[in-house]
Amino acid sequence: MNYEDRPLVHALEKFCQQRHVSFHVPGHKHGSLSGLPHELRQALAYDVTELTGLDDLHEPQEVIQQAQLKLAELYGSNKSFFLVNGSTVGNLAMLYATVRHGDTVLVQRNAHKSVFHALELTGARPIFLTPQWDESTQTAGHVTLESVKLALLQPTNVKAVVLTNPTYYGMANKELKEIIAYCHAQEIPVLVDEAHGAHFIVDESFPESALQLGADIVVQSAHKTLPAMTMGSFLHVHSDFVSTERVAHYLHMLQSSSPSYVVMASLDDARQYVESYTKEDTAYFQVYRKRLLQGLRSIPTIRVVEVDDALKLLVRVEGHTGFSLQEALESQGIYTELADLYQVLWVLPLVKNGYTDNQIDIIEKCRTAVDSLNQSESIVVPSNIFMPLLSVSTVVYLPNQLVGMKSEWKHIDEATGCIAAEAIVPYPPGIPLLCAGERVSQEHISQLGALLIAGSHFQGAINRKTSQIKVVVEENRGRLL
Ligand SMILES: Cc1ncc(COP(=O)(O)O)c(C=O)c1O
Repeated sequence: MNYEDRPLVHALEKFCQQRHVSFHVPGHKHGSLSGLPHELRQALAYDVTELTGLDDLHEPQEVIQQAQLKLAELYGSNKSFFLVNGSTVGNLAMLYATVRHGDTVLVQRNAHKSVFHALELTGARPIFLTPQWDESTQTAGHVTLESVKLALLQPTNVKAVVLTNPTYYGMANKELKEIIAYCHAQEIPVLVDEAHGAHFIVDESFPESALQLGADIVVQSAHKTLPAMTMGSFLHVHSDFVSTERVAHYLHMLQSSSPSYVVMASLDDARQYVESYTKEDTAYFQVYRKRLLQGLRSIPTIRVVEVDDALKLLVRVEGHTGFSLQEALESQGIYTELADLYQVLWVLPLVKNGYTDNQIDIIEKCRTAVDSLNQSESIVVPSNIFMPLLSVSTVVYLPNQLVGMKSEWKHIDEATGCIAAEAIVPYPPGIPLLCAGERVSQEHISQLGALLIAGSHFQGAINRKTSQIKVVVEENRGRLL
């Protein structure tokens, strides 16, 4: 591989070959002072800082600039950025760059917590869009064009629409193109958290990237599906409505002034991995996946659900929860991405032609895991009891207004009409039943009661034992908007 292929990787390699004397940060001095395991200590030789010839992420003019230009060219953006703090920092920067305090934004309700944090930090006013329920995966899906249209009928000046595509479970929004076109016709930018879709541009057998569909800012966790290091992500801007300079300004404020060269080099490498992905690689990946599917399906009682993203598989075993299946697989040394009530989620490797692993052994381990699971008592896995509430809803208090307000625990039977102090997110479905600052309705309470009886797991301000939720105390009422 030559210099042009991976400018930053090349510069880093060349620099480290010098074996220079370090009177600079970082303090581990090429790893020589580190007590980490041998292999990690060796790798610390590459953990350098902004030294001559290595450029600066915050003022890129040399190899980092070249690497980011290559990234932009590959993804077809106006400008692309390396992120060293995951899509988390990308989501923060994209909102900071687009909205100001008090501005209204439409937000897909099942957004990642970094989007909710961005709302709190910016002081933007969210209007939440409830996604549809996806039957095939038994998870929260996507918002529809209709709900976006409905929300835009409200007499407020919406400054941005924030969507998540694909879902964690690999389902793509089939109306994304139309939603983007509709918003653009009203000069509203669409910001897409594509954390799980950095690999979509590899081949048309994957869903289309939001960038290809016209989104203004797209954030991708390269580390989730491409061979990049954890925290390595991309942010792409391709917009007539959002200023690239504002994005750069906020990334400058939000990202470390000592970004990891190892993470950045892995981003340069991941970009090159995608760029060099050939038709033969795609064919090889498809054969790899097909063999894995055949092997899994040869195990009695396993059910595999395929989703829009070929890199993801959902694996279920009749009569057992995903949690027990995950435990059984882990006892055989097979670790999956996540488990829920119904299934475990597998993230496959985006393999290239020639990749080998011992699939026969993997299938045998799965067979042993499932056999042992089937020897335990089977249960009736409760079916989904999620009933979508209002497709469009808003808050009484903005997330940043809630900070510092007094809150109290209230039994759900007495909570109707109160204002939720924090979000309450039942799993499944993983959609906030209540977002912080929303007024609690009778429908919320009926759903909460049913979910508590069904034994749902929750994140947020709910005490399952006492059936209490955290609400804003009445004395704050004078501060209503
Ligand atoms: C949809 C979504 N967005 C953003 C993030 C944050 O990504 P990162 O871990 O790269 O910061 C995640 C992490 O799981 C996610 O699932």
